[in-house]
Amino acid sequence: MKIQNTQPSQNTRILSVGAYRPSRVVPNSEIVDAIESTDEWIQQRTGIKTRHFAGEDESLIDMAFAASKIAIARAGLTSEDIDTVIFSTITYPFQAPSAATELITRLGNTKAAAFDINAACAGFSYGVGIASDLVRNHTSKYVLVIGGEKLSDFTSPTDRATAFIFADGAGAVVIGPSDEVGISATTWGADADNRDAIMMTPSWLDFKKGATVDKIGWPDISQEGQRVFRWAVYEVAQVGKKAIASAGIKPSDLAAFIPHQANERIIDSLAKSMELPDGIVIARDIQTTGNTSAASIPLAMDRVLAENPQLSGKLALLIGFGAGLVFSSQVVVLP
Ligand SMILES: CC(C)(COP(=O)(O)OP(=O)(O)OC[C@H]1O[C@@H](n2cnc3c(N)ncnc32)[C@H](O)[C@@H]1OP(=O)(O)O)[C@@H](O)C(=O)NCCC(=O)NCCS
Repeated sequence: MKIQNTQPSQNTRILSVGAYRPSRVVPNSEIVDAIESTDEWIQQRTGIKTRHFAGEDESLIDMAFAASKIAIARAGLTSEDIDTVIFSTITYPFQAPSAATELITRLGNTKAAAFDINAACAGFSYGVGIASDLVRNHTSKYVLVIGGEKLSDFTSPTDRATAFIFADGAGAVVIGPSDEVGISATTWGADADNRDAIMMTPSWLDFKKGATVDKIGWPDISQEGQRVFRWAVYEVAQVGKKAIASAGIKPSDLAAFIPHQANERIIDSLAKSMELPDGIVIARDIQTTGNTSAASIPLAMDRVLAENPQLSGKLALLIGFGAGLVFSSQVVVLP
């Protein structure tokens, strides 16, 4: 006897999005002294004017819970309807159990399937791809995908390559069944030859062996900025082009471009290389939110829709890229 797929594959879409930005707004002027920089330099090189930092007692899960509640309510669902939770993060301060299982206890739905993924700034797009395939094959019906980061816990305020870039926040989407195709096949992969371009060092194990933070520092994220910049500009545009082709559309069919908010110059360069149409709405949430890694695409999507409600139901290209180096992209119908 052979096993069978008893149900035909199911179309999927993003049903809703929710966002949470911590209340504390941090202007460049608060960052510059520790890194001998200026507001002008940061704005010119990255586009960032302000970002949000979570309070000391405000956890990653607090932020994720706030974003998730909004997304679930906007989907017209309750927490109990969510059968799977995928949490993309690199800043949950416990190796186990997962951030996703802490979140489902807060949501009062402790029986949902729940797991974390670590694909850094590509993590949200990785999560959308996995969630869509789970719904497509009837493993899940409603999947909550969260991108959340408290990067201020893992960024050195004196590191000239990162202190002005990283920030905190959380965004969430609910993915579920759809009559039409609402999420294209995901184009993803890695370029692990460049694995050392963005690193979190030292290892936790060094502390077990007796080292102290005073001696070896805290496991903060460091990066070779120029190397990452060059890679993003040349390689990531090809990823977006493949995702557009795989969705069976042309760049001119897109209404919005919602890439990972790493650097506004990278966003502009990608839009140019992919020959995106003139009238397209390009997410520039980085200006007031900074780079929130896995959270940046859902946060940017929420802002794009708040500022352009007419884009609901229109096509957007998502592209995530970051530490690994890893990348992921798909075309989605906006909720
Ligand atoms: C980090 C980044 C903004 C730095 O910009 P850059 O133009 O590459 O800067 P460089 O490191 O080449 O330095 C250029 C000059 O600025 C100076 N500089 C470097 N960091 C500085 C800072 N924080 N403030 C002021 N000046 C700085 C350098 O000393 C150098 O000065 P010099 O020309 O007198 O020697 C840029 O490389 C970047 O955004 N990279 C991508 C990072 C990214 O997106 N990471 C996340 C991926 S998910």
